[in-house]
Amino acid sequence: MTSIYAQRRAALAAQLGAGGVAIIPTAPERARNRDSDFPYRHDSYFYYLTGFTEPNAWLVITANGHSTLFCQPKDLEREIWDGIRLGPVAAPAALGVTQAHSVSELDKELTKLLENQTTVWFPFATHEGLTAQIDGWLTQVRARVRTGVSCPSSQQDLCTLLDEMRLVKDNHEQDTMRRAARISAHAHVRAMQTSARMLRAGLDVREYHLEAELLHEFRQHGSQFPAYTSIVAAGANACVLHYRADTAAVRNGELVLIDAGCELDGYASDITRTFPANGKFTGPQKDLYQVVLASQYASVAATQAGARFNDPHEAALRVLSQGLLDLGMLTPTKHGSVDDVLEKKAYFPFYMHRTSHWLGMDVHDCGSYVEPGEANTAPAKADPLTGVMVQPRPSRVLHAGMVLTLEPGLYVRPSNEVPEAFWNIGIRIEDDALVTATGCELMSRDVPVEVAEIEALMAG
Ligand code: GLY
Ligand code: MN
Ligand code: MN
Repeated sequence: MTSIYAQRRAALAAQLGAGGVAIIPTAPERARNRDSDFPYRHDSYFYYLTGFTEPNAWLVITANGHSTLFCQPKDLEREIWDGIRLGPVAAPAALGVTQAHSVSELDKELTKLLENQTTVWFPFATHEGLTAQIDGWLTQVRARVRTGVSCPSSQQDLCTLLDEMRLVKDNHEQDTMRRAARISAHAHVRAMQTSARMLRAGLDVREYHLEAELLHEFRQHGSQFPAYTSIVAAGANACVLHYRADTAAVRNGELVLIDAGCELDGYASDITRTFPANGKFTGPQKDLYQVVLASQYASVAATQAGARFNDPHEAALRVLSQGLLDLGMLTPTKHGSVDDVLEKKAYFPFYMHRTSHWLGMDVHDCGSYVEPGEANTAPAKADPLTGVMVQPRPSRVLHAGMVLTLEPGLYVRPSNEVPEAFWNIGIRIEDDALVTATGCELMSRDVPVEVAEIEALMAG
């Protein structure tokens, strides 16, 4: 059976054009401080085409479908210190590549692989120093033109091909993402229950206690890393969009916003829940929460094959804007109707981020957000807040197999313009949506979002 990785390599080779050669390095190792590295994470493009997670490796694919892996050679001493290496002898059988060499042969072999080819494809602006390395190999090839060898004369960005391939997730990817989302959902349940239980016991609860629950659940179920730095924000900290779990106290009567997801076998999940620290919403917290939840339902309803990437955002914005008017955060006398609020972006002080991003191997996954090949038709318009002229581009048409987050929120900083009861409340609800022909599958709903369900989950 051909592996998914071999299928992807073949699909890529078919797009390189005659005389095309694709070069894909994995990620470098990075020192953290003396003798201690950051945990190693492979490059997503490289992994997509190989399933191989060792550092110091390169993949080269030629238009005829041949693939060459460069990897760390077997080395008993290094393997005693750092762990077993696959090695180039075992690589073709293990990974299905046509041939493999030691990475120490990279310069010599790449020069040969580039001879008499026309186009070098590599990921632009993603790997520091890669352009200089490629220049070096091309210089070597050019030095031999007098012997009758020809040198590639064009360079193309491999991201343009791989980003499109990665945008639609195949069955293997969908299955891995479902499993990642399920682990993360259970981690959120665990953190919610711990918060209420510790407060009921009269303990001094800190944000890091809840982060520890997340990390325990991730690792306990085989996740290799968090997909991004976990946000555990107690009380007013929830209004800081990129807050990280810290030492702040988790207090009775306040909300906690947790935005955390694990990475499993190379794929990210990304979930946010906002819940009362002690398990019971207050009136104003519930009022604001219901607006965000309704806006998320509206975004879910707008997500299906054939819709546009911006549709869930527009749907969420309308519900949030109406909610801000209903709750007196915006006033009809000053801000007009919901259409006026949308037109003038009056919601912006409370909702300053977008509702979605692609999700996949990277938490903010690759893929164009505008529909390729579709022309701008609408005239340029001045942004109501900045006055900068913006040329709207038609957003991406959704297809079955694409995965995006749906993550509306409201963040209320103290201001004489808004009722004090809402000050310092920050709420976001985020789920991971797999686009289907008729709607979307929310892969992350093993943790509830409804007020009554959250309260029931957190009750004693
Ligand atoms: N956790 C990052 C995001 O929600 O986009
Ligand atoms: Mn998130
Ligand atoms: Mn997100």
